[in-house]
Amino acid sequence: MRMFRTRRQFLALTRVAGSAAAAGGLLSRQAFGFMADVPMDSTPHSMTGEPLAPQRQMLNPVTLAKFVDALPIPAVMQSEGKRPNPRNRKVQLPYYRMEMTELTAQLHRDVPPTRQWGYAGSVPGPTIAAQSGQGLLIEWVNKLPSKHFLPVDHTLHGAEANQPEVRTVAHVHGAKVPPESDGYPESWHTPGQSRTVYYPNEQDASTLWYHDHAMGITRLNILAGLFGVFTIADAAEQAHNLPSGAFDIPLIIYDRTLDRDGQLLYPVSATPGAPFVSEFYGNAVICNGKLFPYLEVQPRKYRFRVLNAANGSYFHLTLSGNRPFHQIGSDLGLLAAPVELRTLVLFPAERAEIVIDFAGLEGQALELNTAGAGFLQFRVSKTRSAPDTSALPTVLRSIPRTPQSQSVRERILTLSEHDDAAGNSMKMLLNESHWDMPVTEKPTLDSTEIWSFVNLAGDAHPMHLHLVRFQVLDRRPFDLFAYNADKSLVYTGPAVPPDANELGWKDTVRAEPGMVTRIIVKFAGYVGRYVWHCHLLEHEDNEMMRPYDIIKPS
Ligand code: C2O
Ligand code: CU
Repeated sequence: MRMFRTRRQFLALTRVAGSAAAAGGLLSRQAFGFMADVPMDSTPHSMTGEPLAPQRQMLNPVTLAKFVDALPIPAVMQSEGKRPNPRNRKVQLPYYRMEMTELTAQLHRDVPPTRQWGYAGSVPGPTIAAQSGQGLLIEWVNKLPSKHFLPVDHTLHGAEANQPEVRTVAHVHGAKVPPESDGYPESWHTPGQSRTVYYPNEQDASTLWYHDHAMGITRLNILAGLFGVFTIADAAEQAHNLPSGAFDIPLIIYDRTLDRDGQLLYPVSATPGAPFVSEFYGNAVICNGKLFPYLEVQPRKYRFRVLNAANGSYFHLTLSGNRPFHQIGSDLGLLAAPVELRTLVLFPAERAEIVIDFAGLEGQALELNTAGAGFLQFRVSKTRSAPDTSALPTVLRSIPRTPQSQSVRERILTLSEHDDAAGNSMKMLLNESHWDMPVTEKPTLDSTEIWSFVNLAGDAHPMHLHLVRFQVLDRRPFDLFAYNADKSLVYTGPAVPPDANELGWKDTVRAEPGMVTRIIVKFAGYVGRYVWHCHLLEHEDNEMMRPYDIIKPS
């Protein structure tokens, strides 16, 4: 259980998050129930409630003109010729070069340019568009400065003062890749260095994303802008005649806090020398690099690939007038059938592919909201350039449920949050283990296991496993006191089945507080070392990440 001091921190956080929710329409995980009694507050606070860096005043996004910038659509990355596959040098693969550089970009017409770090000169980075079964190579080139512009905490594992301050390692989230291609958090490289990585793309059509994963500074590198979308297409998906080309658009949603000069503000703790804070919620919701953008659409169907790229916030997405839309895909590809939704909840790192039909809305404007406030406006034109011949099929593919009888092992894995011995910061632990303790999860290649996440903390944690895809089995409330007393799992209610839009293949699942969240996963692909972790980036950087090994069958 959290102690008073962390409870106080929790309340301080909700104060900031609450003002954020009131200001920007963001629903942070804890803002619920606090929003009403939270005064508008434009001063950032440290975790303990002291005003933070008073010389840098927070920009209140409510004061900005809405919908004055067009929504940027990330460019599709072009390859630069071919190079041999490092796994089989007779095969030539398309080669992409992705440089990481510092850049400035305007997040809004009336906000000065914001310093960020981006891939290939933009935030979000360009989209990598791959075809299933066709491998490619990416050279990740670190041309960043050698000093970080965000507060590195040298007390965190992997970010010690004797390590280079700026380190990067790209990871393609959701990719089924050999271990040496996965972007292991300790396999970082520094400014002036590059790494060429092989991506086989031997997996179903899906919307993946690439982002930095460097040990101890992932939260800062991603907040700085190191992320982008990576799509995989396949023949089965293409045969559906879903909206495509100009009508297939990524919506990359994340939150930031800016100062009045347009610069990123990231809170720091009140502890000198240990600036880490345990969660980050911004007050400005950004989509594809703009605050309050608009998108001109035609009265027809569109496919949107929605990604939550936030450090810690979840988004509660609705359309104006509570209009329905359809979710057609989840983290790792199409659902079995479209699911009609009026609200889509996305936790950090989750993806949802949705179809919105603007037909019948000619000449109107509607908004995409989070927590009821519009952050993206759709302006529907009066006419179409051509008839809408795209389809929203009633059946997308078959996704057989993995029977629980296939599982050879059930692992009980706790999620917890603690103060460290000095009481300075909290540690977030998986199974009460630190990153550098011996590996305890060693599934056998091609075996199936059930992983039960027992959430002992007060927050939901989006849990992610690298390499594999899984299905959500259920969530079930349990007695926390009984568990703390003698580690017995006493359920206090029936198991809750997954939501309709959680019945596809997933790589990230929200583990709710007070619940045991169960997934069933087949460890297919490769033998070797990967990681599993909480995708709240502050937690991931502070021990809520563990290595796991897939071992050869004996
Ligand atoms: Cu989205 Cu371990 O990553
Ligand atoms: Cu977490």
